Amino acid sequence: MPSSERNMFSKILLSAISLLLANVRYFLCSLMQFIPARKWVADPPIMGNQQTRWNKDASTGTSHQTQGLKNFLPSPSKEQITFHSPKGLQCISPLIQTVEETPEPIPAKIKGHIPKWINGSLLRNGPGKFEFGEDKFNHWFDGMALLHQFQLENGTVTYRSKFLQSSSYLTNSQHNRIVVSEFGTLAMPDPCKSVFGRFMSRFEMPQPSDNASVNYVVYKGDYYVSNENIFMYKVDPETLETKEKVDWSKFVAVNGATAHPHYESDGTTYNMGNSYGKHGSRYNIIQVPPQKSKCSDTLEGAKVLCSIAPMDKMRPSYYHSFGMSENYIIFIEQPIKLNILQIITSKLRGKAISDGISWEPQYDTCFHVVNKHTGEVLPGQWYSKPFATFHQINAFEDNGCVVLDLCCQDDGTTLATYKLQNLRKSGEGLDQIYNSISRAFPRRFVLPLNVNSDTPVGKNLNPLPYTLARAVKDADGKVWCTHENLHPEGFEKVGGLEFPQINYSRYNGRRYRYFYGCGFRHLVGDSLIKVDVETKNFKIWQEDGSYPSEPVFVPVPNATAEDSGVILSVVVSPTENQSAFLLVLDAETFRELGRAEIAVQMPYGFHGIFTSH
Ligand SMILES: [Fe+2]
Repeated sequence: MPSSERNMFSKILLSAISLLLANVRYFLCSLMQFIPARKWVADPPIMGNQQTRWNKDASTGTSHQTQGLKNFLPSPSKEQITFHSPKGLQCISPLIQTVEETPEPIPAKIKGHIPKWINGSLLRNGPGKFEFGEDKFNHWFDGMALLHQFQLENGTVTYRSKFLQSSSYLTNSQHNRIVVSEFGTLAMPDPCKSVFGRFMSRFEMPQPSDNASVNYVVYKGDYYVSNENIFMYKVDPETLETKEKVDWSKFVAVNGATAHPHYESDGTTYNMGNSYGKHGSRYNIIQVPPQKSKCSDTLEGAKVLCSIAPMDKMRPSYYHSFGMSENYIIFIEQPIKLNILQIITSKLRGKAISDGISWEPQYDTCFHVVNKHTGEVLPGQWYSKPFATFHQINAFEDNGCVVLDLCCQDDGTTLATYKLQNLRKSGEGLDQIYNSISRAFPRRFVLPLNVNSDTPVGKNLNPLPYTLARAVKDADGKVWCTHENLHPEGFEKVGGLEFPQINYSRYNGRRYRYFYGCGFRHLVGDSLIKVDVETKNFKIWQEDGSYPSEPVFVPVPNATAEDSGVILSVVVSPTENQSAFLLVLDAETFRELGRAEIAVQMPYGFHGIFTSH
């Protein structure tokens, strides 16, 4: 190359690097939009006929009765439950494929009985488009958000679905290729550009993704769809029309928020989001007021209640949800780490964002407790052996303690497993993928709040007679927590449990008895389970070749019993000509009341909510 061209090239390269450095802050601010959402796990294929219900007798959980001090805690490897290695898992590839939307409501075919008192909509979210032109997404979480609505009225059901009209969706559609990078997919340069232009595009700012495919959330009575991005979209719950795009950073100094906020009965909403500044990253607890001051309000009035420094500011932990009791927010800092340097240089290095996330079990899991009225971080230091968690079940206070129930895995590498190529495998390859991942199990921790220098060392500080969870102060003042299993022995046969739900409106933050979830004898949920936390009894609904979604509890109007209501779940099947259906179970007995069949192809989705009319 002639020297003049070399000089020109050097100048351009230096300019590009300067541009990159100048925009590091922008990269940091955009970081949270790329952080993923959710995980899963499971066990062997079900070979029974038709509906099978298990209703086990009470059995005690296998609690870990360690001596309390860290050095005496069982190692993670000893703690892991051993599983049979299932073989012959059904190929579920059709459940992870692009589908057409159904924008106009279509009537469902009712079998059995849909109670007439259920009037409202089950709104669900999940990926429904996995490629544009020749370009294909790599990870399940990358798929474009498809919004579903099952409308129940006077015993009838209609269904509709629409793709979220996000900028990512519209831009990709317009160019007929993947232009916007997602969690597991790095958008490639425009092939029409010159070689030099494609090289230089590595230095361009990435277009932030606003694909909101995880959940529906509610702020000030309005419905939004959310990932964990800096952006959310307001949507019309009646028509599924995409409305206003909302940028978290315009209201509070955060770069996104989880798709699992908590709600007070008056509509006040709490969430958590990360921020990135000159002092490194912070975990922030956000409070959004319950009401609008004017019609056009979105997040006005939101404030950061509390800001917590990570153990390592350049390697904060990933979190997907958090717990909330009557007076406290409980945040779990787990050893799934976000390597900020790797993430902000991912495009330069030709890597996807997912490449910067790692499971690092050399770190313990740490619990933070924050007074949600004052924003004060309680001074206690609660730790546990390393575990990964994505969904909290419930949290409540009792006798000076916070009781925290959540789904836990002993290994946090599951996120990387949910690549589309893995989910679409069949035969031995699919069995191997399934058997390579850790299952999630419901566990209870007890955090004694009043720990000080007078608290004795080496003694179990859990005063609650109904749980075998332990909390023992170490000589350095840390409290080491050991969980109680919220399930009976043999629960591994259902593949563990994820997508936990409760009677939220009445029991979130309060002592409760029942939770519901999906069993995972496959890479997606393959059964519905109800667990009694007092007796450890559980009931299960499952059908061969059917894959139910997260169970949503809807209470009977004016009910007094905790489980007086129904469970709604969308059941899909990879078998050709087998209809998807909305399943309605009696939440008390876990018996099927009815189903509403829809003759459309429907992918397996993530989360949803029920909204009453
Ligand atoms: Fe989730």
